[in-house]
Amino acid sequence: MKVFALHDDGQAPSVTEAPLPEPQEGEVRVRVRAAALNGFDLSVASGRLKDMMEHRFPVVLGKDFAGTVDAVGSGVTGFQVGDRVFGVVTKDYLGDGSFGEYVTVPVAVGIAQLPEQVDFTEGAALGLAGTAAVDAFDAVNVTGGTTVLVSGATGGVGQQALQLAARAGAEVIATASSAEEIELVKRLGAAQTVDYRGDVVTQVLQTHPDGVDVVLNFAGDPAALVPAVKQGGKLASTLIMSADAVPAEGIEVLPVYANPAPATLTRLARNQAEMHTAVTVQQVYPLADVPQAIEDFGSGTLGKLVITLD
Ligand SMILES: NC(=O)c1ccc[n+]([C@@H]2O[C@H](COP(=O)([O-])OP(=O)(O)OC[C@H]3O[C@@H](n4cnc5c(N)ncnc54)[C@H](OP(=O)(O)O)[C@@H]3O)[C@@H](O)[C@H]2O)c1
Repeated sequence: MKVFALHDDGQAPSVTEAPLPEPQEGEVRVRVRAAALNGFDLSVASGRLKDMMEHRFPVVLGKDFAGTVDAVGSGVTGFQVGDRVFGVVTKDYLGDGSFGEYVTVPVAVGIAQLPEQVDFTEGAALGLAGTAAVDAFDAVNVTGGTTVLVSGATGGVGQQALQLAARAGAEVIATASSAEEIELVKRLGAAQTVDYRGDVVTQVLQTHPDGVDVVLNFAGDPAALVPAVKQGGKLASTLIMSADAVPAEGIEVLPVYANPAPATLTRLARNQAEMHTAVTVQQVYPLADVPQAIEDFGSGTLGKLVITLD
């Protein structure tokens, strides 16, 4: 099968042939139809994670996937050959990835059924970013009238979180800079925008002098956003590993680590199928063009970049 993989030779990752993987106990094999890029993939591609996680070469890149179940390992219940599925490849080592024709994934975490209404391209774009958004949203208790600043609202995580907050009745302030970004976040439910190329805190305090109830931080320095949070409020961030990373008095700091539990993925898929949320797919690339997709992701995008494997 064809995969886009990193080898142990210091070279840039490339398209290569690899043996078809067999599903182990508790795993299914997925015929990948689409896969999406995340910042994590850029870190793997650059070799930055070599000393931080076990690498089993060739390391196939990619976490987000959508496709059909093609083989079922022993002990698997709830999945059959032919099921449409999506999710996030979640293993405690790097090696099996979604930028290839097939990937094996454990059914305990990182996979859920994909409803017919959601196509593979959209399904692939939901996984990791959507999970991070749901986990951040769930961490902060947003109800009607809660004021929420989403920092990084134009990104994959931010767009999902913004929609979840708006749908819960929150008054959402979204970071956006260009006219295109402003139009997008308003369409997704933002009541107000602030330009992240300027001083975000000053702009927030102009309309909310006591600060906002909640900051969801997916881009920008979390510590710099603390003065935008009302006393007694919360700041949740995907950019920190522990609350100590952001010293703050009178506000709760919540690190967010995305856990693609099946229930979370099912919720994401249902939200997409029922049009409660919408994922923006900016561009679709064939496997051979992953290097271009990586370059494009690194220079900024306004939606998810998806690799298709027909
Ligand atoms: N902890 C976890 O489990 C977890 C899971 C998923 C993601 N993450 C992390 O969460 C972050 C967001 O992920 P993502 O997939 O949404 O990334 P993304 O798609 O790259 O989105 C980031 C967005 O923020 C914008 N931006 C850049 N600088 C900003 C600033 N100072 N203030 C406000 N917005 C700014 C970017 O605009 P431009 O494109 O114009 O630069 C981009 O639209 C990443 O750092 C990612 O690594 C963590």
